[in-house]
Amino acid sequence: MDYSLYIDGKWCQAKDGKTVPVTNPANGQVIGSAADATAEDVVSAIEAAHKAFPLWAAKSARERSEILYKAYQLMLERIDEIARVLTMEQGKPLAEAKGEVLYAADYIQWYAEEAKRVYGDVIPATYTNKRIFVFRQPIGVIAAITPWNFPAAMIARKIAPALAVGCTAIVKPAEQTPLTAGKLVEVFHDAGLPAGALNLVTGSKPSMIGQTLLADSRVRKVTFTGSTPVGKLIMKQAADTVKRVSLELGGHAPFIVFPDADLELAASQVIASKYRNAGQTCICTNRIYVHEDVVDDFTEKFVAKVKELKIGDGLEEGVQIGPLIDEEAIKKVDRHVQDAISKGAQLATGGRQLGGLYYEPTVLCGVTDDMLIQQEETFGPVAPIQIFKDEKEVIQKANNTPYGLASYLFTQDIARAFRVAEALEYGIVGINDGAPSTAQAPFGGVKESGMGREGGKHGLEDYLEIKYISLGGVDKK
Ligand code: SIN
Repeated sequence: MDYSLYIDGKWCQAKDGKTVPVTNPANGQVIGSAADATAEDVVSAIEAAHKAFPLWAAKSARERSEILYKAYQLMLERIDEIARVLTMEQGKPLAEAKGEVLYAADYIQWYAEEAKRVYGDVIPATYTNKRIFVFRQPIGVIAAITPWNFPAAMIARKIAPALAVGCTAIVKPAEQTPLTAGKLVEVFHDAGLPAGALNLVTGSKPSMIGQTLLADSRVRKVTFTGSTPVGKLIMKQAADTVKRVSLELGGHAPFIVFPDADLELAASQVIASKYRNAGQTCICTNRIYVHEDVVDDFTEKFVAKVKELKIGDGLEEGVQIGPLIDEEAIKKVDRHVQDAISKGAQLATGGRQLGGLYYEPTVLCGVTDDMLIQQEETFGPVAPIQIFKDEKEVIQKANNTPYGLASYLFTQDIARAFRVAEALEYGIVGINDGAPSTAQAPFGGVKESGMGREGGKHGLEDYLEIKYISLGGVDKK
């Protein structure tokens, strides 16, 4: 399967004809190729998006909504085809890949509806001869730089609100997952999106593509999901042209189990949160804090479930844990495990590299603050358990990180649930819920986990500018 660039409504090769191979992390086999964009190609994509902007922005909200709705329907029709490609280039199990395509489609459906609800305000003026109106207008051309861990959903979460309000877009997917991006762009093309409203640039030179997009003053906003170091660089590079920036960066999610928690529920929800995509999501649980009174009971229930997880090629029936994305990921996971063991943690299960890019789902007990795993995002299938004694202590530990994306707490005491949720310095809190992501909620983090929100009505704001119009002379006859 091969995908080329998509610029101004046409599929085209890179200017120098070069392509890059795409490999399957499950077995290292080449499954296709993507065009390797040059700087000239990126500029052509910017030109196309810039030319299309006034035309797309001038369409009625209803027309934009109808095209998005058609794209949503096509996503559902093509779910099997898209999910298969997603599993082959990213590695997640097929059932999870289908879940991701549905999740992506949800964003498109949500914004097809929300496109019709971009309202303004009328503000009472100081003087009776004046009226003040507030308009919300599309920001212009946006660049969406998306990650490999959710090759469909992160594109949809950025593109759907942008297109809904009248922005035009350039998508730059991760080098590892350009084929799913090609499938999504095809969906929008077939849904009747006008030429130039959406453009795709793929390739092996992410910094060149990023810099070209960031240096161009016609691009008015960049939205990025990925690592915190790259997010910081983007923020700096965006300063020269004062672009709007939305960043969805790293996480280091705490998962707190209080003594009054439903332990069966907590154990099954941490499985969902920790082992989704083999631990490769920004909101995956990274630190589990369990109260000393229930730690043995919780650990027994949890470890029993982890031992049942089936590992393998995501295309095989029943597989729940696929390969990690690359060799670097395996190395990082193993470094965290070995560091914890060398500092006194005990292996309750797992802890082995299984060959290729597979790592055994792992649980570590007796974890302490000085271990690397309690300080850095692991991005792999390792669950470290640390014991705590009281609420104040665990809140302090949970907040003691530069990150602030997602957090989880399990308790049956409603007052404690809200007290702790309000004290946690995170953009997302799951109370008795290890899977809080959904199209209608404002996904995003605080501190070094980023800025801006994606999803729901709040997700539109990042693509809109506010303009106020002051009308004078109203009392003149
Ligand atoms: C992410 O890992 O960046 C996204 C996870 C989600 O949307 O649930």
